[in-house]
Amino acid sequence: MKKRIGILTSGGDCPGLNAVIRAVVKYANLRGWEVFGIPRGTDGFIDYVRGEITEEQLRIQPHGYDLPGVLQGLDILQFMSGSVLGSLSKGNPRDEKVIKDILEGYKRLKLDALIAIGGDGSLDIIYDLAKKGGWNLVVIPKTIDNDVAFTERSVGFDTACNTVTQALYDLTFTAASHERIMVVQVMGRDAGHLSLHSGIAGGADCILIPELTPKLTEETLQGLCDYIAQLRRDGRKFALIVIAEGVRGLDGKKDPHIAETLAALLKERCHQLSCTDKEDYRCLAQVDTRATILGHLQRCGVPTYFDRIIATMFAIKAVDLIGEECYNRLVIWQNGTVDSKSLEQIMPMIKWCHQENICPSPVDPEGFMVKTALSLGIYLGENRTLPKTFPIESSQSEKRIPAPELVGSNPE
Ligand code: F6P
Repeated sequence: MKKRIGILTSGGDCPGLNAVIRAVVKYANLRGWEVFGIPRGTDGFIDYVRGEITEEQLRIQPHGYDLPGVLQGLDILQFMSGSVLGSLSKGNPRDEKVIKDILEGYKRLKLDALIAIGGDGSLDIIYDLAKKGGWNLVVIPKTIDNDVAFTERSVGFDTACNTVTQALYDLTFTAASHERIMVVQVMGRDAGHLSLHSGIAGGADCILIPELTPKLTEETLQGLCDYIAQLRRDGRKFALIVIAEGVRGLDGKKDPHIAETLAALLKERCHQLSCTDKEDYRCLAQVDTRATILGHLQRCGVPTYFDRIIATMFAIKAVDLIGEECYNRLVIWQNGTVDSKSLEQIMPMIKWCHQENICPSPVDPEGFMVKTALSLGIYLGENRTLPKTFPIESSQSEKRIPAPELVGSNPE
């Protein structure tokens, strides 16, 4: 049966969003369906209801992008980061009039279903709107933080890992040339996946993530100084320290410049230690530190092979779910392939985490990524407190690393 479906992107952008949009439009059009791109997250529904945009303007056609000369007709969406639809990260709409217009927009467009490409926060918000409006919703997970529960991977994470890994590689040589300690602040909200994965791949000496180091402490600083002193005694004068943005300061408060704070603290502590009578700390006298906050560069870049593949597979799965009228699902990546979960089943756990201010999908402190880092001798901090877990069901034991090369050989 022919369907009219909507698609929107919500929350922070990331590489691979356009690849999802492209695949949804291509596949849906092949099935003879119509696709409507809702601009700026759910706010696009409001624009439509208020007459600021027409149904025809919302309709997305494949190859709708005019490029000059021989590039005419090239579908560049697969390569571009950002979102052609625009995205919104302004939290839950509370104004009743705004909510009414959003729900009216879905109804007036006569949509059979909506594909929302969103992260952990958007999932919660759009689920509530969908319940209120009786929408047929399918959610595709995206975020460089990789913190959406029940999926091992979200669109955008792989590219961000590559970006951070490359940045660490680049910083290695300037760190070495000036015999400096480079402290690199990595995004991830309250999760340490991006820091841990790229820290390992990028050759970091120390990686501080909120799951293991919720806040800086005197012990952490001492541990880092000891680590640097040992490196120096072994003949290496530089070091790379990755700190996830979710790690709090000494006062337990969020610090948007936590890398700069740590760099300053480390320099001071190293000098203090070098002035004590301990021979082992003499090598810390000349320690110099610098901080780099990678910032929104982590959300940019051409999506990697793997992000384009999961973006495309997620899109096809979402369209298939709608074709089967199997609604209110989160598309997920598990054991090297796509699957889906019922939102009804998973949302209570996710909402509980949000209420308790707990990351719904943290790094498993006992998992293999942590073991891998520790096995390389990477310093992961002193605090190893286990996170609180949901009393009924835990979201997942670990974000397993899928093996992209296995995708093609999966018997499915
Ligand atoms: O969730 C993605 C993310 O990039 C986080 O890693 C980061 O904390 C946040 O978004 C930044 O948000 P904004 O772009 O609104 O500053």
